[in-house]
Amino acid sequence: NHLRHVESMAHLPSGAGRITRLNALILGEALASEEDDLVFPSEDFSRHSHVSSPHKYLEMYRRSVQDPAGFWSDIASEFYWREKWSQQVYSENFDIRKGKIKIEWFKGGMTNICYNCLDRNIESGNGDKIAIYWEGNEPGLDTSLTYNQLLARVCQLANYLKDVGVRKGDAVVIYLPMLMELPIAMLACARIGAVHSVVFAGFSAESLAQRIIDCRPKVVITCNAVRRGSKIIYLKDIVDSALLESAENGIVIDVCLTWENDSAMKKEMTKWMKGRDIWWQDVILKYPVTCDVEWVDAEGPLFLLYTSGSTGKPKGVMHTTGGYMVYTASTFKYAFDYKSTDIYWCTADCGWITGHSYVTYGPLLNGATVVVFEGAPSYPDVGRCWDIVDKYKVSIFYTAPTLVRSLMREGDEHVSRYSRKSLRVLGSVGEPINPSAWRWFFNVVGDARCPISDTWWQTETGGFMITPLPGAWPQKPGSATFPFFGVQPVIVDEKGVEIEGECSGYLCVKGSWPGAFRTLYGDHRRYETTYFSAFPGYYFSGDGCSRDKDGYYWLTGRVDDVINVSGHRIGTAEVESALVSHPQCAEAAVVGVEHEVKGQGIYAFVTLVEGVPYSDDLRKSLVMAVRNQIGAFAAPDKIHWAPGLPKTRSGKIMRRILRKIASRQLDELGDTSTLADPTVVDQLIALADC
Ligand code: PRX
Repeated sequence: NHLRHVESMAHLPSGAGRITRLNALILGEALASEEDDLVFPSEDFSRHSHVSSPHKYLEMYRRSVQDPAGFWSDIASEFYWREKWSQQVYSENFDIRKGKIKIEWFKGGMTNICYNCLDRNIESGNGDKIAIYWEGNEPGLDTSLTYNQLLARVCQLANYLKDVGVRKGDAVVIYLPMLMELPIAMLACARIGAVHSVVFAGFSAESLAQRIIDCRPKVVITCNAVRRGSKIIYLKDIVDSALLESAENGIVIDVCLTWENDSAMKKEMTKWMKGRDIWWQDVILKYPVTCDVEWVDAEGPLFLLYTSGSTGKPKGVMHTTGGYMVYTASTFKYAFDYKSTDIYWCTADCGWITGHSYVTYGPLLNGATVVVFEGAPSYPDVGRCWDIVDKYKVSIFYTAPTLVRSLMREGDEHVSRYSRKSLRVLGSVGEPINPSAWRWFFNVVGDARCPISDTWWQTETGGFMITPLPGAWPQKPGSATFPFFGVQPVIVDEKGVEIEGECSGYLCVKGSWPGAFRTLYGDHRRYETTYFSAFPGYYFSGDGCSRDKDGYYWLTGRVDDVINVSGHRIGTAEVESALVSHPQCAEAAVVGVEHEVKGQGIYAFVTLVEGVPYSDDLRKSLVMAVRNQIGAFAAPDKIHWAPGLPKTRSGKIMRRILRKIASRQLDELGDTSTLADPTVVDQLIALADC
């Protein structure tokens, strides 16, 4: 079965033919009509890459799906395990019809991911290698830590956390910007077996409180303020409000450890609750720079990360230790063709999964040197990224299409005035990258020299699922290309029937992979219904996808009620609930619309409470309601006043029609005769530009 899948993956003739065909592609012998679409790695690049040809990939891929136990055991053996895993290596029930969904990898093994990131690399002679280059918001403000220094700092914090009562399995919420203290805090939790839950520091007090109430942490870690571009954000004030709200809900936090980020705000100016609030710098230095490791079960929880779904409150995605470790390390190594001499920079924030798997764990497990950037990519000017690339000699640069598109608009001269000679591999994540942005990234940023790894994956998958392996095969701008080792993507139709060959449909995955999430915190039922019930037997990703005649996968965006704004996942239900919390808003319906830079923008239709007139002030206060409840990044781009919403006779809002109105595709409204009141459509169109 697995083998058949490998063959169908590329939708090429089975057996040798398929290989020959891919080989033909890589040798430039593709059909003339396809040539324009194919971008080949240079021979030199391929020769030196970990996976240098389709043959090599197929050989490894075949083994990974025919013998997952053997394939992943070999990779896992490169890490330190206090105790080895049981013979079985993995067990899974992926089929809801057969009972509870359960995924386990390396069961019985005991390990520690912090030990594998730090101590193991130090023991192999890399103690003096730079682990983190930190670049502050202001050019010229920078610092670095070697692996030895990073370990010392992690141990001091770990000792402190133990001292204030944090034990294996306890949650710790981290609400920090991109200071070095953020990965330090994650690693310190991992060292003592505590479960970190990083909350992106752009989330509002309400969102933070919601997450604190859900996971009941022993400690909250934050800083007083941060500079982002020319703005200062007072994070401690946000935490204060969140802690007040969680206390009102019965969750009282005893310790709020606060880093004094003195480049943004002095200690003396910070509001303080004596007893609860502790300055990091006052206490941590007193602790020893060594700290025993807490060995944890491979299936022991490593972290929770909340993410948006199509309905209800955010979901606490739970990742465990062993499988996640092996998966993030190997995906990092292969998808970026990582070599020990590389300098790696990922622009993502550790508040999202990318910052977990590919700022912190994946790179450090490989002993890499990572650039961590506090600031905004357009500050003090739009050349900042390339300034940083040149300053640290960055060789692997991983970012989001939204940043590529925003820099592309500024003109090539802001890029070409920097050398960028050090760049070797580029990466993209978070949303589909449109071919024109891909080409600009490739030609202008990478001087047509650097392969682009367009990595498709999700918070839930832990690591890359569909991704180019640079050097292994030609790329097609806008396609994430082929599945990573061990990943069996399938495209299904509405009925859940697998479609072969060239097709479009819903993207699912067959069988587990080590980095898969194991549950939604406190709600295994929701885990099963959201991801495993729509198409029984498969994991359903929520994404639409097509596969072309060469077997390349093309992600087409979410098919559920999730909007992807600048690579940030936002549930329409969350935005709607924030809008209707406004006392003058009666009803809200939110849809995504195409946005030139952000990928998608948020378009909100609102009906007001009877008798309330619509005004610009009201519009602003509706936007403010969303900023306050979720965060500035979820602010609607457009509020569309709607005296009524198009509903079916049973009261269901017809979002299909709203999407067409929002994108002004008025000749594609389709049949509106089934609406309870078809005249609302004309009313909405008339009010579109109010
Ligand atoms: O729609 C897909 C899109 O981002 C979603 C996952 O969002 P999140 O869990 O926040 O993780 C983002 C970082 C991994 C997916 O369901 N997405 C992510 N990467 C790509 C993508 N869409 C197309 N191409 C990608 N490379």
